[in-house]
Amino acid sequence: MDYTKYNKSYFDVINDRYSCREFTDEDVSIEQINMILEAGRVAPSAVNFQPVKIIVLRDEKIINEIIEKRATKYLFNAKTIFIICYDENISWHRGYDNVDHGVVDASICTTHMMLAIEALGLGTTYVCSFKEDLLKEILNLDKNIHVSAILPCGYKNEFKPHRERKELKDLVIWK
Ligand SMILES: Cc1cc2nc3c(=O)[nH]c(=O)nc-3n(C[C@H](O)[C@H](O)[C@H](O)COP(=O)(O)O)c2cc1C
Repeated sequence: MDYTKYNKSYFDVINDRYSCREFTDEDVSIEQINMILEAGRVAPSAVNFQPVKIIVLRDEKIINEIIEKRATKYLFNAKTIFIICYDENISWHRGYDNVDHGVVDASICTTHMMLAIEALGLGTTYVCSFKEDLLKEILNLDKNIHVSAILPCGYKNEFKPHRERKELKDLVIWK
């Protein structure tokens, strides 16, 4: 992949990113989609078990079905939608309490992809508000597959300043 034309620094990417909920009609290219997927592919996962599955949703019929059945309200008219899932049969379950780390792996993958979207000059919002059962039915996903997040993606048509964040002193404890 040719990353040379994208020279935004990591710190600019994390500082410039904001949740974009309005997109232009312009299509995201297959090259851009592949770069976003590649950013997800290289994400770390517990014990490197790599349980993540990514659905690239561009089919208008399926997108409309999701909207009509109200599986989520948060697709924001995006024409390219990434749905990040994990397979509970592959994800690492912590030995002593059996806690499934698939959702953590999928969240890290989603964050990699979200920051790649910003680095490419595109926009997205990390969406977790959806009816998982309904989404799984529409997408025809097996029982062992869990939907972790949705990233509606496109060219930004909404520009806004950063949200307020807590001061470092309110979240950091030095010992
Ligand atoms: C785990 C997670 C779940 C989120 N779910 C939704 C969602 O369902 N719908 C939505 O509009 N925004 C959602 N957001 C976006 C947050 O509201 C947003 O990131 C937060 O308000 C900070 O704003 P910023 O992203 O512009 O910095 C989610 C963000 C995260 C990290």
